[in-house]
Amino acid sequence: MRLLALLAVLLCFFAPPALAADAMITPGVQWKDTSGNPIQAHGGGMIKVGSTYYWFGEDKTGTSQGNAWFRNVPCYSSSDLQHWKFEANVLTRQASGDLGPKRVIERPKVIYNASTKQYVMWMHVDDGGHTITKVGVATSSSVCGQYKYLGSFKPQGNISLDIQLFVDDDGSAYFFGEARAAGGLRLYKLTSDYLKIDKLVSVLEDYESPAIFKHDGRYYVLGSHRTGWRTNDNMYTSSTSLSGGWAPWKLFAPKGSKTYNSQTTFVLPVTGTAGTTFMFMGDRWQPSSLGTSPYVWLPLTVSGTSVSMKWYDRWYIDTVTGKWHA
Ligand code: DGJ
Repeated sequence: MRLLALLAVLLCFFAPPALAADAMITPGVQWKDTSGNPIQAHGGGMIKVGSTYYWFGEDKTGTSQGNAWFRNVPCYSSSDLQHWKFEANVLTRQASGDLGPKRVIERPKVIYNASTKQYVMWMHVDDGGHTITKVGVATSSSVCGQYKYLGSFKPQGNISLDIQLFVDDDGSAYFFGEARAAGGLRLYKLTSDYLKIDKLVSVLEDYESPAIFKHDGRYYVLGSHRTGWRTNDNMYTSSTSLSGGWAPWKLFAPKGSKTYNSQTTFVLPVTGTAGTTFMFMGDRWQPSSLGTSPYVWLPLTVSGTSVSMKWYDRWYIDTVTGKWHA
């Protein structure tokens, strides 16, 4: 007995620390969750809590162009970015109102407010004809808990379609609202509770599906042209300041590839012990069957101030080191 106990102690002591195996990412094919169901997190975004990634998006099951009505905002969890566990539908259809039947809720994004200890979700709120064009806000005290819907509004009176959220190093948070040709892609600073607009910070050229990341003191914004569910050559700009100085927009994927047939939704920084990989997340929309739209995730290369992206049928990411390889 004593010998066994000693052996157990020795094993614990000398056992190598858990090493995360490379996780394989296969862009452009349908992915299932750990229960074998198709992952429904379209137009999605992510937040990392501890060493776990949480993926939120649109449940598009059974919907298609012209009837892409709100069903749920699901939340999935993973520590390796490959195996995703369905946690809960954190926002679900209600009897009436913004979350009611025949309404559109798109591109939900979640950030965490350390002062209020609330997870804060912003989303595009609309109807089929884009006559509402508002942004909605919901909060929860746990990342995959039931979010309380607080209501919707037009940021400073401007229409708002595709959205994005971003928290800067100093904890200030920002919101992108796409306001079509008349209003451009508008970047607003949020109030310190992340629930309201504080002020307009910048107006960029009108691109849809904005995503933003920061690297070496420079902000990079990716976005798509406005072609509905059809994919196009997405572009990026960058600046050292959120309030201006945006460089001319350029391609980051090969011309004519239509961003490898996808539309930007988010850029996830995967930071580990050896560095950061900025992972492009896009949607390959299938207008006749939106719920079967595959996800396109690829590693971005940032070289100087240039961003580029190559195609890999499969590639590998290690969330412990933050490194990727083909
Ligand atoms: C483009 C947007 O980026 C999508 O989220 C969706 O709203 C489609 N338009 C609908 O046509």
